[in-house]
Amino acid sequence: MYTINMALNVIISAIMVIQSVIALPFNTALFFIDTEASVFESGDEMYTVIWSTSLPGTGWVTYTYDGAEYVVKDLQNSAVRTEDTVHSVRVPKAHLDHNTYTYSSQQIGTRRAYVAVKGRTVTSDPVEFKGYAGQEQINMLVLSDIHENPYNAQKAVDNFTVQPDLLVLNGDLVSYMTSVLKFKQILSYAHQFSGGTIPVIYTRGNHENRGTYGPEAVDIFKTSTRGQYFTCSYGPISLLCLDSGEDKNDSDWTYAGLVDSTSYIAEETEWMKTLSPDEDADYRVCIAHMPNVNNRYGFNWVPILTDLKTDLFIGGHKHRLNFEYRRLNVPFYQMLDGGKTNDDGFIATMLTFGGGEIRGIAYDDQRNLAGEHTYVIER
Ligand SMILES: [Fe+2]
Repeated sequence: MYTINMALNVIISAIMVIQSVIALPFNTALFFIDTEASVFESGDEMYTVIWSTSLPGTGWVTYTYDGAEYVVKDLQNSAVRTEDTVHSVRVPKAHLDHNTYTYSSQQIGTRRAYVAVKGRTVTSDPVEFKGYAGQEQINMLVLSDIHENPYNAQKAVDNFTVQPDLLVLNGDLVSYMTSVLKFKQILSYAHQFSGGTIPVIYTRGNHENRGTYGPEAVDIFKTSTRGQYFTCSYGPISLLCLDSGEDKNDSDWTYAGLVDSTSYIAEETEWMKTLSPDEDADYRVCIAHMPNVNNRYGFNWVPILTDLKTDLFIGGHKHRLNFEYRRLNVPFYQMLDGGKTNDDGFIATMLTFGGGEIRGIAYDDQRNLAGEHTYVIER
């Protein structure tokens, strides 16, 4: 397999070198950006810019900050990553907010101990990134359970009259993660609804660890915890973004004895216990795909979320909108985002934060108002 792979890479590289010498247009057909970049929250003061290309290669993000030019590379333990078609670069929020960035990749045909064959370089158009600008009203678009139907999600989103400042993708964007192509679908939805111009929060759904690419995908986000869970903030909103794991026990036949979500969630729970409430925040929001946070593999997250003075919990998974979800006896608001409602439908939610309130409005893909609700945050 290794020899075949190497031979294939050398042939592709040779074609690209020859055609670039005689100016044939093959390279634009072979190596290109196949999923444009999105900017993901990845923990505290950092973003991770993620995009993908048609063939493996390098990745880097460029911008100017405070008069200095930055070229930030996709690295792994000091080496430039070259074996992947997905590229991720971690940059400080302070550098990217209200700034313009571009991202580039160079095709790497083969890389040996002392030599590498390099192909064409592709560079994006400049992207103007927004970030928090002290606005009084903050619009957060919440989409859950897209399950590979972005068309109806788009129709639902088209009903909103305001533009989002922040995008939440609350899990189950795809139904399984058997290959990098499924992950590229997630990236494409992130770009479709954010344009790479606003921060994206991605929480993993129960379907997104099914298949061998599931655990690999988590590494791409380069979160500060190294799991798909982290804290972040957007102006006065403090966010706890959780990986709620699967919807079945590890022993379920579905997983063929090849998962140990219990240990993963145990580690996440220990990390949550180290956190303290963000006393400066006007709004403390927790986002997780699975709504039954009182029992995640035997761990009860309710006391932790209570100690963290959570104001609103946003769940998904149920494929139905409920602004007044009251399943658990908890001292904070709970809501279920809609997502895919049946084989065709979709409900999208916009939450507007301002004046000590969180106002929610939701539309379906048929232009119907699906729900409205206001949460009053008392301090
Ligand atoms: Fe789900």
